[in-house]
Amino acid sequence: MNEVRTPNATSPHVIPETWAMTGGEGENSYTKNSSAQQKMTSKIWPLYFDAIKILNLPSSKEVLRIVDFGCGSALNCIVNVEVIIEYVLKRYAEERKERPDIQVYFQDVPTNDFNTLFKHIFSTPNDKILGDEPKNYMVAAIPGSFLNRNYLLPKSTVNVAVSTHALHWLSKFPDVVRDRMSPAYNGGHTSLFNSSLATVQACAKEAEEELDHFLAARASEVVQGGLVFLTFLVRQGGFYPYKADPVYHIQEDVWNELVLEGVTTEELRDDFNFPIYCRSLDEVHKVLERYSYVFEVQKEESMVSNYFVDPLENPEGSAQYITAVYKGVSLDFHESYFGKTVTSLFFQRLEQGLYDIFSRWKLGSPVPEHLQPMWTNAYTVFLRRK
Ligand SMILES: C[S@@+](CC[C@H](N)C(=O)[O-])C[C@H]1O[C@@H](n2cnc3c(N)ncnc32)[C@H](O)[C@@H]1O
Repeated sequence: MNEVRTPNATSPHVIPETWAMTGGEGENSYTKNSSAQQKMTSKIWPLYFDAIKILNLPSSKEVLRIVDFGCGSALNCIVNVEVIIEYVLKRYAEERKERPDIQVYFQDVPTNDFNTLFKHIFSTPNDKILGDEPKNYMVAAIPGSFLNRNYLLPKSTVNVAVSTHALHWLSKFPDVVRDRMSPAYNGGHTSLFNSSLATVQACAKEAEEELDHFLAARASEVVQGGLVFLTFLVRQGGFYPYKADPVYHIQEDVWNELVLEGVTTEELRDDFNFPIYCRSLDEVHKVLERYSYVFEVQKEESMVSNYFVDPLENPEGSAQYITAVYKGVSLDFHESYFGKTVTSLFFQRLEQGLYDIFSRWKLGSPVPEHLQPMWTNAYTVFLRRK
């Protein structure tokens, strides 16, 4: 994966057009550091179970296709898809219908570590979910962007589309955000928490277009009566100011410190934007409404995304855990910008910064308003194709 990103390392002004989670199975890999995402996803399994009761079941002569969009390289997507298969098979059994062949497509950007993913599929007995039987589904990978207008799958061929923790990742930052002459320029910031209204508006427009493209493609691919499950982060509160976890503020403080110390340059810091945009719920609804002629919203649920850590109880462990999660999703991305040494220092300071704030929370010491406990929400919507 690093080889694919290498050109970006020499061109700090270009956000990698395709990038991926930290590959492999090393200590910083997404594989080893994605239990937080998995814990959040497992909370929504009961919702899948209810939803599958209304799935149009293909006959045994057809094929039932499940696609995971933005699957990543960890076990998460395999476990998640196997839960869906378990529920689907239950329905066939209950209705005494013969099951069709089940085909699962794992979809992600071309730089995703599909090799590690496939190694898991064939080395992990799915005993927890489906017993020790060999896999009872067929597997293929689809490299590409799930935002692509040249759709990834033929029309009306997908029965269940699922995407977890992927849609809050922007595929690019709008040019104006990186243009010094623009009012939307985000120089001085590495995320959106202290940004101007113009910057947030520019990113909101990009995020709106991306969700629109995603739904347009799925509208074409999903069969009538098919289901779409989407889980992604949304921010609490209104549109502006853009509010979310203090971890992003701490991240920005660390970069500012590293610039002041001359460890990295102001130019690099100014050009760097962490490519996450947590939409507000209003922004999500606006796009969903545009697709209401084709997708019926069956259910929505939001849950706070931090229940897997307890900073008040265990500041040190929580700081370590959150830093590890952050490395799992973005170590390669940071290294492609800042290089290995600076990135390593950044993550050490981030962990220390998190620990300091969490300790202050625990002791009840005063902290500035933007560092108060506050978390993004994980939002799930489940849609049925009309
Ligand atoms: C945090 S990971 C989530 C992986 C997995 N779904 C899970 O829940 O653990 C986000 C994934 O979305 C993928 N992704 C982001 N934007 C994408 C795009 N435009 N097209 C395809 N995949 C994308 C990333 O490459 C990454 O693997």
